[in-house]
Amino acid sequence: MPSKFGTPTDPDYLERLAEFEARVTRGEKIEPGDWMPEEYRRQLVRMISQHAHSEVVGMLPEGAWIGRAPSLKRKMILIAKVQDEAGHGQYLYHAAETLGVSREEMLQALLSGKAKYSSIFNYPTLTWADIGTIGWLVDGAAIKNQTMLAGCSYGPYSRAMVRICAEETFHHKQGKEMVMLYAKGSALQRQMAQDAINRWWWPALMMLGPHDSDSPNSGMLTKWGVKTKSNDTVRQEFINEHAPEILASGLTLPDPDLHQDADGNWRHGPINWDEFRAVVKGNGPMNKERLEARQKAYAEGAWVREALEAYAARKKQIPVAV
Ligand code: 3HC
Repeated sequence: MPSKFGTPTDPDYLERLAEFEARVTRGEKIEPGDWMPEEYRRQLVRMISQHAHSEVVGMLPEGAWIGRAPSLKRKMILIAKVQDEAGHGQYLYHAAETLGVSREEMLQALLSGKAKYSSIFNYPTLTWADIGTIGWLVDGAAIKNQTMLAGCSYGPYSRAMVRICAEETFHHKQGKEMVMLYAKGSALQRQMAQDAINRWWWPALMMLGPHDSDSPNSGMLTKWGVKTKSNDTVRQEFINEHAPEILASGLTLPDPDLHQDADGNWRHGPINWDEFRAVVKGNGPMNKERLEARQKAYAEGAWVREALEAYAARKKQIPVAV
């Protein structure tokens, strides 16, 4: 039985690759049991597992504020959002598992520091206004990226994105409402909101990935229909939506070069890619704390895994009553 993950040394590789690429061109979804190039599988495991890690690590910055929410309403909204992120992580780990990688392998890659997660979650949430700003900017950027991925050629990932985007719009709306309220609120609220926008604007642009010219994975991901838009295109969509709305709220943006060109696109100043690379390499403001928190959670959850394994082993021993 030929492997469903083909490599260039396989005798029928070229013929099967042509058929696979024709399917992608026709807009067909590639499903778990279908033939696919091993490189396509490897890239998807990399991208989907890192996306899942991002969702779970992303719970930490906001989760830190659940106990300090200023009202019951805001507390309930934040609890719902953080719970959603946990669920997004589960969808995505499951989607990655359809490609033959185990949950344990993915978790060990994260806990060992080998696997990446989104740079954006390595920044601290210093005030309550950060919570609204994360909803507006970070979930806003995520929606642009994930709406793009909803068109992805791999069926399980594409379907996970459709489900996740529906929940992200709630995350985005609640954040935007909060920041716009503060922008029209007391001087202290306005100052808190402005401070948060100043700290999160550039990291939100960076989270959408390096410039296309510096994006080694994009070529293959675009050729095989995983990415349907480039990093820079998604970034431009994000800026075109959010820059005018933030300025209309009466707040400013920390980019003196920001302007709208004749085509209506909002052009930004230079992004600090040295900062991006440092954060991705593990030298961001909160990388150490985020990884330690995940390692601690994994250690404290050992008893659940052991109980599940014992139960599964016991079930195997007990003959099924016929
Ligand atoms: N943070 C960390 N690493 C990043 C990164 C970021 N923001 N952007 C790029 N990188 C890494 C890539 O992982 C890659 O490294 P690797 O080969 O070792 O994995 C390297 O930088 C080169 O970048 P590429 O552009 O070639 O990488 P990709 O083609 O993977 O593009 C991406 C980057 C656009 C982020 C793409 O991976 C992607 O779309 N991922 C799925 C979406 C995702 O992961 N979003 C993260 C946020 S989750 C979220 O927003 C939750 C929401 O509820 C708030």
